[in-house]
Amino acid sequence: MIRKFTPADWKDLYDYLSDASVVKFEPYDTFTEAQCKLEAIKRSNQESFLAVCLKNTDKLIGNIYIEQQYPKKYSTWELGYVFNSRYQGYGYATESCKAVLNYAFKNLQARRVIAMCNPQNKASWKLLERLHFRKEGHLLKNIYFKSDEQGNPIWQDTYEYAILFEEWLS
Ligand SMILES: CC(C)(COP(=O)(O)OP(=O)(O)OC[C@H]1O[C@@H](n2cnc3c(N)ncnc32)[C@H](O)[C@@H]1OP(=O)(O)O)[C@@H](O)C(=O)NCCC(=O)NCCS
Repeated sequence: MIRKFTPADWKDLYDYLSDASVVKFEPYDTFTEAQCKLEAIKRSNQESFLAVCLKNTDKLIGNIYIEQQYPKKYSTWELGYVFNSRYQGYGYATESCKAVLNYAFKNLQARRVIAMCNPQNKASWKLLERLHFRKEGHLLKNIYFKSDEQGNPIWQDTYEYAILFEEWLS
């Protein structure tokens, strides 16, 4: 089930955002409980973060991010996703991303959806290819999120993926 975040989601959010293996490729470090309380409130007031929950228990097992890019006239949206490691490997990310892509193309009038990941993040690009995204580029050392002990940036590569509305339909 996909729904909006609520402030009460902070515990389940903490369950996965406090896991170093989950945030390894994210532009942020692990979250504390206090940060998750604020983050759940922030996300519950935003349109771009969607909570993915188990149907029976409403347990939050991950989130999808879908945000319109600028300029808006290009009708391009960015997709992102982060799932609790205990709920990876069961197809939940595939199922929920499909539903969000359907929604973006049919209800948000998206024309093109893009997604980016580190080439070392195999689970992420495998998910994008399962969803029939096309790899459009391999950017070399274009970005960094973390620095080494000397304060030097740790540059990393990016895979850029995209899917057009007509490709999604076919
Ligand atoms: C990226 C991420 C969401 C992918 O999660 P995932 O669990 O691998 O993806 P899915 O839920 O689609 O599951 C696919 C796996 O489940 C298996 N599976 C089982 N049942 C399935 C089903 N009904 N449908 C699809 N896949 C199924 C697939 O074979 C696949 O396994 P494999 O990777 O061994 O081939 C997850 O690794 C993650 O959250 N990582 C941390 C955050 C992150 O890095 N985000 C991306 C930043 S760019």
